[in-house]
Amino acid sequence: MFAVHLLAFYFSKLKEDQIKKVDRFLYHMRLSDDTLLDLMTRFQGEMEKGLGRDTHPTACVKMLPTFVRSIPDGSEKGEFLALDLGGSKFRVLTVQVSEEGKRNVHMESQFYPTPKEIIQGSSSQLFDYVADCVADFMKTRNMTHKKLPLGLTFSFPCHQTKLEEGILLSWTKKFKVRGAQDTNVVSSLSKSLKRHKDIDVDVLALVNDTVATMMTCAYDDPYCEVGVIIGTGTNACYMEDMSNIDLVEGDEGRMCINTEWGAFGEDGSLEDIRTEFDREIDLGSINPGKQLFEKMISGLYLGELVRLILLKMTKAGLLFRGEKSSVLFTKGKIETRHVAAMEKYKEGLQNTREILREMGLEPSEEDCVAVQHVCTIVSFRSANLLAAALAAILTRLRENKKLTRLRTTVGMDGTLYKTHPQYPKRLHKVVRKLVPNCDVRFLLSESGSAKGAAMVTAVAARLQAQRKLIDEVLSQFQLTREHLVSVKSKMRAEMDYGLKKATQPLATVKMLPTYVCAMPDGTEKGKYLALDLGGTNFRVLLVKIRSGRRSVRMYNKIFAIPLEIMQGTGEELFDHIVHCIADFLDYMGIKGASSLPLGFTFSFPCKQTGLDKGILVEWTKGFKATDCEGEDVVEMLREAIKRRNEFELDIVAVVNDTVGTMMTCGYEDPDCEIGLIAGTGSNVCYMEEMGNIELVDGDEGKMCINTEWGGFGDNGCLDEIRTQYDVEVDEGSLNPGKQRYEKMTSGMYLGEIVRQILIDLTKHGLLFRGQISERLRTRGIFETKFLSQIESDRLALLQVRRILQQLGLDSTCDDSIVVKEVCGAVSRRAAQLCGAGLAAIVEKRREDRKVERLKITVGVDGTLYKLHPHFSRILRETVKDLAPQCDVTFMLSEDGSGKGAALITAVAKRLQLRKDN
Ligand code: BG6
Ligand code: BG6
Ligand code: GLC
Ligand code: GLC
Repeated sequence: MFAVHLLAFYFSKLKEDQIKKVDRFLYHMRLSDDTLLDLMTRFQGEMEKGLGRDTHPTACVKMLPTFVRSIPDGSEKGEFLALDLGGSKFRVLTVQVSEEGKRNVHMESQFYPTPKEIIQGSSSQLFDYVADCVADFMKTRNMTHKKLPLGLTFSFPCHQTKLEEGILLSWTKKFKVRGAQDTNVVSSLSKSLKRHKDIDVDVLALVNDTVATMMTCAYDDPYCEVGVIIGTGTNACYMEDMSNIDLVEGDEGRMCINTEWGAFGEDGSLEDIRTEFDREIDLGSINPGKQLFEKMISGLYLGELVRLILLKMTKAGLLFRGEKSSVLFTKGKIETRHVAAMEKYKEGLQNTREILREMGLEPSEEDCVAVQHVCTIVSFRSANLLAAALAAILTRLRENKKLTRLRTTVGMDGTLYKTHPQYPKRLHKVVRKLVPNCDVRFLLSESGSAKGAAMVTAVAARLQAQRKLIDEVLSQFQLTREHLVSVKSKMRAEMDYGLKKATQPLATVKMLPTYVCAMPDGTEKGKYLALDLGGTNFRVLLVKIRSGRRSVRMYNKIFAIPLEIMQGTGEELFDHIVHCIADFLDYMGIKGASSLPLGFTFSFPCKQTGLDKGILVEWTKGFKATDCEGEDVVEMLREAIKRRNEFELDIVAVVNDTVGTMMTCGYEDPDCEIGLIAGTGSNVCYMEEMGNIELVDGDEGKMCINTEWGGFGDNGCLDEIRTQYDVEVDEGSLNPGKQRYEKMTSGMYLGEIVRQILIDLTKHGLLFRGQISERLRTRGIFETKFLSQIESDRLALLQVRRILQQLGLDSTCDDSIVVKEVCGAVSRRAAQLCGAGLAAIVEKRREDRKVERLKITVGVDGTLYKLHPHFSRILRETVKDLAPQCDVTFMLSEDGSGKGAALITAVAKRLQLRKDN
C-alpha cells in the first residue's frame, strides 16, 4: 500500500517537473486572458478594415461577401449535386431536399482521392479531374439522364460578385494549382463539365466551407448565423448587416461574410505573439508569409509545430536524453491525429508512448509526460486564438443587433474539432469566458457541408428560374435589326399612302398639310402672343421678335389644366384657355393693347385648309373634351374670346408642336427641315415637296407636313412586335386601338408599359414579394421624369429604391434591380422604334432631293428626349444605322414651340400685309 502511494507521489512529482519544464520552455505560447481580449479587439479592427470600401484593398482579413443573403427557411427543395473540395477529403454527393416544410434531406456521397499531382498541378488538370469524378459518380448511380444543378463547396478565398462566380484570390493549405489564381473557378469547372457530353450539370453556386457549414447547421437551428471550420485550415463566416458591407450595393437585410480569418497577421499585427516555431513553419510552407493566423491554429500545422518544438527541446537536451533522432528531423512526421491521440483522456500517455516508439524514438516516462504537455500547449493555444477571433465576431453580431445579450448558434466542422478529444470543450469554455454576454450554442455539422451547399443551390435555382422568366418577358422588347428595318420600310409605305389622295382617307399616318411653306428668314419682327397646348405644360407666351438680329424675347406663364377640364366639354376647355390668356394679359399689363396676333400651338392632329383653320381630327394623349372632334379649334377659340368679351385677339395660325419646334430650330439653323417631339406624345413634321402632296394644289416649293405618325400601326402592321403589355396599355387608354406607335414610343405610355410588366412579374411572385399594391394598380404613376431618374447611370440602387418608395412601391434592392431593367428594356425599344421611323423620313428627304448624301437637321423637343439618360443616344444611333447616307444633326429646341408659332405668325402677317397692299 505504502509502495503504491510512494509510486503515485513519485509519478505526480515527475509529472509536475516535466510540466513545469515544458511550461518554462513554451512560456511564449501560453496566452493570458488579457492577451486574448487584446487579440479580440485587434480582430474587430481587422473586420472593420476588410468591410470598408477604402480599407478593403489593403486589409489582410478580406471579409468577402458571399451573396448568401439568408439562412434556409425550409422552403428549399429539389435534387442537387454537391462537390466538397478543399478540406481533407474530396467528395461528390447528391442531396435530395424534400418537399417544403418537412426538413427532410437525403444524401449519398463518394470520396475521391486528391493526389499531389492534381492539387499541385495545372488548373485544367484539376478541374478536368473534378469533372471526371462527377461524371463517374453520376454514371455509377445511373443518373446521367438527369439535369441537375450543382453547388460547389470550394474552401479557398474567392472574390464573388454573385453566387455562381468565384475568382480565386489565392490557394491556401495544401493546394497550389498553376494558372487558377485570379480566374473564375465556376467557369473553369463548367468548362470541364461540358467535356462530358453524357451529363448535363449546371454549376449554380460556389460556397466556402464555412458558409456551407453555417447553412447546414442553420437548416436545423435557425439561430445559427456563424460557421467555423477548424480542420486542415481554419476560417469563419457570419451574417453581417448589408448596411455595413461597402463592397455590395444595398443596405437591406444581411449577407454572409466569409472572413478568411486565416490571413490575420499577414501585415505583421501578430508578431508579438508569433514564436520562432511559427516562423519556421511558415518558412517551410508552400505559401510563406500567408495565412499566419491559420498556421498557428489549424490541423495542417499543429503536428508540425509539435515536431519543431520537440526537436528544439531535444537539441537543448531537455528530451530523449538529448539524442536527436532522424524522425524529429523529418517534416510532417508528426500529424495532428497524433497530437489528438496523445492528448486523449486516460489513454493519452499510453498513446504517446506508442506513437513515439512507432516513430523509432525511445521515450522515458518523463519524455512521454513532457511530449504530451507540449501537445496540450500547442492545441490549447490554437483553441485560445480561435476563441478570441470568434469572440470578436460574436461581439460584432451582438452590437449589430443592438442587444445586451445575444443568443446564437455557431455551426462547427473540421477534423481537428471533430477528432481532438479536448478541443471543443476548451474552445467553448474560452469563448464563453471572453463573451459572457452571449449565450452560444456550438452545433457540430454532422453531415459536412454538402447539405448547406444544396440549400444555397436551391435558392440559386429559384433565382435562376425567376431570371429566366424575367428574361423571357424582356426579350419581347428586344428588336432585331431586321425588325427595325421592317419598321422603317412600313413607315415609309404608310407615309406614301398618307400623301396620296386615293389612299389618304384610310392611311394611319395622316400626313396633314400645315400650310407652313417657308422657314423664317430673319426679317420677321413684332410682338406676338402664343399658346402652347398639348404637351406636359400649357403655356401662354408673349414673343417679341427683333428683325435682322435673329433674337427673340419671350415672357411666359405656365397654367394647369385640370383633368376635369381636359376631359370635360369643349366649351369648358376653351373658356378655361381664354381665362388663362386673360390672366396672362393682366400679368403682363397688356390687356388693353389692340388685338395682338396670336399663334396657337395645338399639339393634336388637325385637318387644315389654311394656316388659321384647323379641324381637330381626334383627341390624342390625355385629352378627351367633348364636342371638339370635327370642329375648327381656331373658331372655338375665337368664340370663347367673344364669350368672355374682355379683349380681342387676331388668331393667325394654328400650329402643331412639331411644326413649332421645327420653326424654333429653323430660326437658327437653315438646314432644319424636320421637327420631332418625343415627349408626352410622339410625332414628326418635315418639309415635303409640294409635288408630292396630292391634297394641296400646286407643285411649286415645299410645305410642312405634320405626319401624325403616332397612328402608325393602327391597321395592325406592327402587331408582330406589339406585346401583351402594349395591348393592355392600349386597352386601358382614352383612345383604345388608336395611336399604337405613339403608345410604344412616348412618355405618357412608357411608364404604363413598365407598370403592366411590373404587375405581371409581381403576379408571378418575382417582385414586391408577390403583393400587387394599390399604388401599382394606379394608372400613370410612372411619369417620364421617374423613368428618367430610375435609369440614370449615376444612380445607386439605393436611390432607385428610394424613388420607388416615393412612388409608394415598397421595393427591396433586388426589386429595384429588376425595375431598372424593365425600364431600360421599354425605353430602349421606344428609342429604337422612334429612330426607325425617323430614318424613314430622312431617307425619303434624301431620295426626294436626289442626293447621294443628305445633310439635314432635326429640331427636337419633348421631356422624354430631354430628360431620359439614354433615349436620345439610342435614337441617334438607330437613325445612323438605318439611314447611313444621311448626316443627321439633332438640335434641341431650348425655347419650346411657342417661339416657332410666333415666327409662323410673323411670316403669315408679313404675307398678309403684302397681299393687303
Ligand atoms: C468537412 C466539410 O466536413 O469539413 C468540408 O464537408 C470542410 O467542406 C471540412 O472543408 C473541413 O475540415 P477538414 O478537416 O476536412 O479540412
Ligand atoms: C415643349 C413644347 O417644349 O415640348 C410643346 O413647347 C411640346 O409645344 C412639348 O408639346 C412636348 O414635350 P412634352 O414632353 O411636354 O409633351
Ligand atoms: C483556408 C481557406 C478557407 C477555408 C479554410 C477551412 O483558410 O482559405 O477558405 O474556409 O481553409 O477549410
Ligand atoms: C400627339 C399628337 C400630335 C403631337 C404629339 C406630340 O401625337 O397627336 O399632334 O405632335 O402628340 O405632342
